[in-house]
Amino acid sequence: MGIVHIPVLLEAVADNLVSDESNLFVDTTIGGAGHSYYLLERHRNLKLVGIDVDEYALTMAEERLSVFKDRVRLIRGNFSGVKEILNSMGVSSIGSILFDLGLSTYQILGKRGFSFHDEVFLDMRMDNRETLTAYDVVNSYSYDELIRILETYGEENRPSKIARAIIEERKKKPISTAKELSTIIQKTKKRRGRLNPATKTFQAVRIEVNSELKNIKTGIAGAIDMLVPKGRIGVISFHSLEDRLIKEAFKGSPMLKVLTKKPIRPDRLEIKNNPGSRSAKLRIAEKI
Ligand SMILES: C[S@@+](CC[C@H](N)C(=O)[O-])C[C@H]1O[C@@H](n2cnc3c(N)ncnc32)[C@H](O)[C@@H]1O
Repeated sequence: MGIVHIPVLLEAVADNLVSDESNLFVDTTIGGAGHSYYLLERHRNLKLVGIDVDEYALTMAEERLSVFKDRVRLIRGNFSGVKEILNSMGVSSIGSILFDLGLSTYQILGKRGFSFHDEVFLDMRMDNRETLTAYDVVNSYSYDELIRILETYGEENRPSKIARAIIEERKKKPISTAKELSTIIQKTKKRRGRLNPATKTFQAVRIEVNSELKNIKTGIAGAIDMLVPKGRIGVISFHSLEDRLIKEAFKGSPMLKVLTKKPIRPDRLEIKNNPGSRSAKLRIAEKI
């Protein structure tokens, strides 16, 4: 196995998610299977369905989880259709379900256009069967469309400046790589602290390409439907847009009791060992 993704908030997930190991556990974002491996080890009778939209994730998860043999079933799919996916596998109810949002390390380091320095095609698709890429968004969206995504998915303070810069540059030649895009944005903004000035724009483009917020909404709704009474749902988010959505989805569901009044966050040691965990927030709810 090449790149290893360190699972975030692992103990908190393991301590709080599985209340009855005789019921099925669903990991909707199996990635490198860090969470799933740990849960299957800890709960000897637990069975898992692992889902991911990225074919590479499934290859890694399959290899890593092979020791658990028939306790594991893996399937490629988008968690927005989690209910349909599970039904198609003959599953009618589940005991626990995890959504670990965001990117896996193999995606960030995999030269797929997610990283500011990538000098490869500006792709950003998690699912390579989809057709819309970051290249399409950046090179073909109108000024108004760019503003919409920069504002709603990036919460950029000055979206018009960035949209204008993108449009000016692409008139000269198409913006083809992540490095080119981040360089254009860096010219429009001063660096504040350690955060790369292109962070919010990259977030916005990535959310648009992968329909991330829409998928989370439908995914959570489907998951709630599938849970048995006292079954648990856990969602780990990495930025405020996601977290707000999850908080509202949990609070707004008459079928859930929220177990985390405040989200669980990584402690200092975890952040030191895995800086990528610093913005993580875990919310857990139980089906009534
Ligand atoms: C942060 S990683 C998960 C890491 C995993 N928990 C581990 O311990 O290795 C997120 C994973 O979710 C997948 N993913 C993102 N959006 C998805 C979606 N809508 N449906 C299915 N998988 C998705 C990504 O491809 C990625 O592999």
